[in-house]
Amino acid sequence: MNPESASDPQGRQQTHATLGTEFVPWSGFGPLVPLSPPLCPASVYGSRKIAQVEAVLAGDVAGAVYSRLGHPNAEQLARACASLHRAAAAVVTSSGMAALGLVALALGEPGRPLAAAQYLYGHTVVLLEELARWGVPVLRFNPADEDSTGRMLKQRPGIVWVETISNPQLQVADVARLARLCRQHDALLVVDNTFASPFVCRPLELGAHLVVESVTKILSGHSDVMLGAVCTGEETLAEPLRRAGALWGWTASPWDCWLALRGLATAELRLRQACHNASRLAQLLRQAPCVRCVYYPGLPEDAGHELAAAQFSPGLAGHMVTCTFAGGRGQVQRFIDAAGLWVVPSLGDVHTTVSHPATSSHRQLSPEQRRAWGIEDGTLRFSVGIEPTDELLDRVRRGLEACAV
Ligand SMILES: Cc1ncc(COP(=O)(O)O)c(C=O)c1O
Repeated sequence: MNPESASDPQGRQQTHATLGTEFVPWSGFGPLVPLSPPLCPASVYGSRKIAQVEAVLAGDVAGAVYSRLGHPNAEQLARACASLHRAAAAVVTSSGMAALGLVALALGEPGRPLAAAQYLYGHTVVLLEELARWGVPVLRFNPADEDSTGRMLKQRPGIVWVETISNPQLQVADVARLARLCRQHDALLVVDNTFASPFVCRPLELGAHLVVESVTKILSGHSDVMLGAVCTGEETLAEPLRRAGALWGWTASPWDCWLALRGLATAELRLRQACHNASRLAQLLRQAPCVRCVYYPGLPEDAGHELAAAQFSPGLAGHMVTCTFAGGRGQVQRFIDAAGLWVVPSLGDVHTTVSHPATSSHRQLSPEQRRAWGIEDGTLRFSVGIEPTDELLDRVRRGLEACAV
């Protein structure tokens, strides 16, 4: 746009000549609209009218004013996440951990216990220890065990926290049953749905109060953003989340939100191919003599298979596969070398990657805890990508052959 033509509604020139910038909204699109959403990196928005700034700050008029409080790219991503989960509202945060922390901070009640499933992502376990340090009573329970769940509910937790598919053993939570129990006992059920994604499971439709996604993973899908989202069916739960997010400063960056929206456009296609590859991979691994056990809810013999069939989208059981090699860490490394895979302590990329939970996602646990959880030195977690299926299986076959010698 020609700076000379920039003017305010009264026709006065508004260019900041010395800085070479304009202080008016850019309107150089012409009559057509851009097909990709504009990126709005501004940290602050202004007006010549005190009353306009006042109205937006007060929430009387919708709009952006200071990006920690909200900005157009976060708003757009929140709307997209809410729509994927059929939610009334969503709040996006600077990471998946920020989303989990936000739920505890905004919706926890002082002195009232927070109950969390026994098996969770390692950093979530550390977050729970931090909460306990701040005086929040933290209970742990086994969602697969009725007695353990019953004992937990008797202690009147305010929040009950589970993962749809647990990291890394891929235990499937009975979300519908837990939601029913939580509603009977006046507790909020929070479901970390990162390993499933809304294409595999929508916990709000099964009765959960809140669902958390690490958008960093398969939703954005290209290992280039750090974001989280909390979705809820109840606007009354969203408001304290928005307020705490803005106050504690866990706001997502516009650039990351923009990239995530771009990733979301292909997320379902990617997820479907990744689930197909994961299913074939699990079948191959379970036939390999060097592999002692395979965890994948899509396998008929898996402990979570029935729950997955009841709660997941037809034919989809997720893109994560975990297995344990009988020959321990040395054999796992031989497999990785021969298969030519990358060891990556994350998930959800377009490429298949592997991680070694004992030394990455669950390194914070003591060796005894890891043993009790079934995480061994030979345990390997696959985040399955979208490469052609035969190409992936050929690589894995090469890896398994190297383990046989
Ligand atoms: C199940 C689960 N929840 C939450 C997170 C945290 O997400 P982020 O890394 O975006 O903070 C992770 C990260 O690996 C995870 O695996």
